[in-house]
Amino acid sequence: MKHVILLISALLIGSVSASFAQFPSMNVNRDSLNRLTDEDYANMVKQLGINEPRPGRDPNNPASNRLPNYDELIANPYLYYPDPFTSFDGKKIRNARQWNKIRRPELVEYFAREVYGRVPDDVPAVDWQVVSEEKIDMDGIACINRVLSGVVDNSACPSIKVNIQASVVYPEGAVNVPVIVEFGFMAGRPTPKAMSFGPTPPDPAESWQMLVVRRGWAAATIVTGSIQADGGHGLRRGIVGLCNKGGFRKPDDWGALRAWAWGASKLLDYFETEKAFDATKVAIEGVSRNGKAALVTMVFDQRFAAGFIASSGKGGATGWRRFCGESLENLTGAGEYHWMAGNFIKYGADPLTANDLLVDQHEFIGLCAPRLCLISSGVFDIDRWQDIMGMFMMTHKASAIYELLGAKGIDTDMVPRVDVGLLDGQLTYRQHHGGHEAGPNWPVFLDLFEREVVAKK
Ligand code: GCU
Repeated sequence: MKHVILLISALLIGSVSASFAQFPSMNVNRDSLNRLTDEDYANMVKQLGINEPRPGRDPNNPASNRLPNYDELIANPYLYYPDPFTSFDGKKIRNARQWNKIRRPELVEYFAREVYGRVPDDVPAVDWQVVSEEKIDMDGIACINRVLSGVVDNSACPSIKVNIQASVVYPEGAVNVPVIVEFGFMAGRPTPKAMSFGPTPPDPAESWQMLVVRRGWAAATIVTGSIQADGGHGLRRGIVGLCNKGGFRKPDDWGALRAWAWGASKLLDYFETEKAFDATKVAIEGVSRNGKAALVTMVFDQRFAAGFIASSGKGGATGWRRFCGESLENLTGAGEYHWMAGNFIKYGADPLTANDLLVDQHEFIGLCAPRLCLISSGVFDIDRWQDIMGMFMMTHKASAIYELLGAKGIDTDMVPRVDVGLLDGQLTYRQHHGGHEAGPNWPVFLDLFEREVVAKK
């Protein structure tokens, strides 16, 4: 448990320093970042013309009257979730053709406008350059590790530079191999062993990159903070700021989750041009905020063949209507609104609530159909802020969408025991015995990817 907590802190510290990387020439401190965030948040609230947003849940102060709820008896204040099979103007969606023609496009449009934001039409081009390439030994497997920099054309606003950091490791001589991409906090040279930050050995003992290259595939990491800073302070910089030439966002502009997902799509563009990789067999994975980004990637870019969505919680696989762990109001507050479209803040301010959204996350998960998707969580004691039951419920509800498209989801609403996966179909679910991490579900996901993607096409 201790090493998990240390790992989480290390990752969060990583994300903070990645955000600082957005201000290489400025002497920034926390106060000035907070000031920039407050200014940006106030600007968006003003553009929206809404009441003061409600505060989110406070898990850190036992005396708070806004503690998160973990009692299932009161975790479902809204019993009814939007029907995936009724269009916004009331048409019944009865088959895959109607889903793809009517329902999918309108859901994608709604999630873009109201929830995650739109990618502008004229995002500048990315030029992928090889920074270094070296032979490395991964536990006896000769591999190539390539470090990449995706240089974004900033001729429209030279004061904002965006260089996307990424790296990819693959067995030497590989041709047309599948790629597993992780949203991470640093790129570079992977190690065969999983990193351990404490006395307990990590689980699994091998790094995920090792597990991947052992199967003959490539493992890539893309650094979220190099695309878009993880904070409201960075919204006038990074790729979002570059597109706005340093100005404020409009209410339906993209948030950081979509910006990170866009970066992953650009990396997939690169794989399409390289014969070492099979761009039709690329998976995206992430944990927590990066798990949310992995789900966003799957929904908005159907070229991704599979998604491993770990401990993603609110903004990821759990429902906005759930009252458990983190709340919608945490994501509409100044600490997290930058992940989302500005428009989304409306639902965290009176008179609107989660129940005013015309969609919920079962539909978002369903937009991955019929492709492979693993919804993953850790044990309740460590991962409950992410609303484990809610992620299971949304996976169950999303299964009907998979079925409509001729694929298979999970066909029970009985929550399985820890380490018992519901893995028969293309939409799958498994709670592992670890904490807020992907770790113990890596081998499970890689087996699924082998079965559903590598062996199938
Ligand atoms: C916070 C946040 C979560 C997020 C997590 C993480 O706990 O509230 O939404 O998933 O950080 O990214 O580690």
